[in-house]
Amino acid sequence: MADYLLAIDQGTTSSRAILFDREGHNIASAQREFPQIFPSDGWVEHDPAALWSSVLTTCREVIERAGVGLDAVIGAGITNQRETTLVWDRETGEPLYNAIVWQDRRTADTCQQLREAGHLEEVQARTGLLIDPYFSATKLAWILDHVEGGRERAERGELAFGTVDTFLIWKLTGGRVHATDATNASRTALFNIHEQCWDPVLLELFGIPESLLPEVKDSSDDFGMIDAEWLGGELPIAGVAGDQQAALVGQACFAPGMGKSTYGTGCFMIVNTGDKAELSRNRLLTTVGYRIDGRTTYAMEGSIFVAGATVQWLRDGLQLFADAAETEALARNTRSGHSVYLVPAFTGLGAPHWDPKARGAIFGLTRDTGIAEIVAAGLQAVCYQTRDLQACMSDDMAAEPDTLRVDGGMVANNWVMQFLADMLGQPVDRPTVLETTALGAAYLAGLRLGWYRDLDEIAELWQCERRFTPQMPEKERERLYAGWQEAVERVKSDR
Ligand code: G3P
Repeated sequence: MADYLLAIDQGTTSSRAILFDREGHNIASAQREFPQIFPSDGWVEHDPAALWSSVLTTCREVIERAGVGLDAVIGAGITNQRETTLVWDRETGEPLYNAIVWQDRRTADTCQQLREAGHLEEVQARTGLLIDPYFSATKLAWILDHVEGGRERAERGELAFGTVDTFLIWKLTGGRVHATDATNASRTALFNIHEQCWDPVLLELFGIPESLLPEVKDSSDDFGMIDAEWLGGELPIAGVAGDQQAALVGQACFAPGMGKSTYGTGCFMIVNTGDKAELSRNRLLTTVGYRIDGRTTYAMEGSIFVAGATVQWLRDGLQLFADAAETEALARNTRSGHSVYLVPAFTGLGAPHWDPKARGAIFGLTRDTGIAEIVAAGLQAVCYQTRDLQACMSDDMAAEPDTLRVDGGMVANNWVMQFLADMLGQPVDRPTVLETTALGAAYLAGLRLGWYRDLDEIAELWQCERRFTPQMPEKERERLYAGWQEAVERVKSDR
């Protein structure tokens, strides 16, 4: 039996390819960044050709770097930035427009009109989502309405829609497979998460012709063969999931109540809710965690749009330090209990506030505030926001998580992880393998290809590298958190 699985992780700022062995060890990896396109205020696009070439290059690089032939690779899994929307010509494969990225706010007015027309409840009941530019539906309609002839061509069945996974499957299989998985479908606002099918009522509401849509498969399924043209031999694509759901699998959060938080550009906290699609009363999202053997496992999600991006801004925008690795030492130098708050609402506030017009601010400056306090406040903001989500989750869910598994770039910072445990008042577990997103895609593919018997076998592979336990006195925790809540109220657009 072949020894490795290829995981393709197509993220918001870079594409990565990693070869994993059966125990989930990272054997080799390759990463390529690609340009972000900002054509107008609040608009974010990616060039589909740049996405594709970054994926192809990293796949080739990782196989070469590992020094193993393609024969040693059993198959591939794909994970991806979610919601990002592409449309292409079925005949020529030519994209109609750039990929409209999940962060893009161009359809804010359309969403507001839909909410004002009273559609929110119905959309939430069917999709588990809210009406927000974040999701694919209004982005897709925008492309059809703004590219000349788009809607007519769609009506004639000449076009295909896809999130990034679908686009990559199409490219990798040489245009033979037009498919997505249930996790990615659940982020479009067109998919009925209870019935597990594209929903005619939503297609009508958002004005989307059905002929555009891909087939929706399990997350662990047969997605066709990678064409021999690309890697020098064929390879089955056997696992697909949106990146946050893939991290849920990579973190082995398979029991209801188990949760993970991924601290990348943004932060996405997801908690497994088992076979129940629990609807949030606190404006969190209900989503498909994974679908295996036709059985759907649901999850509740809180999405914070800016996490690691705060560190980037402190480094590149304010130039307070040269390397993110310096932030831990800086933060350790702060006066304990300082009261500086940085609210990083650069592109508005995500869950649970959903206020696209809020903007960032720093509060509580005193004569002795220095670089260290501002940096610490930026790091703490991510922890306070996680606490906001935790509070909503505990109110919403029957089984709230008693520990949190974390991953993503920021979790290397021990000071942040300790503050997170202190702020949540619960343990935070950091695993040995931090590339959990790519690992989750590999696990899903490995499950399909017979590498793993079941999820229990995968769960046994998860290992904790370090557990952070809360140490802060409760009174101090609540005092600090109350200051954060007040700061957030002050940046809201409706004050
Ligand atoms: O919902 C957006 C999310 O999938 C993006 O994740 O890691 O590419 O920033 P990431």
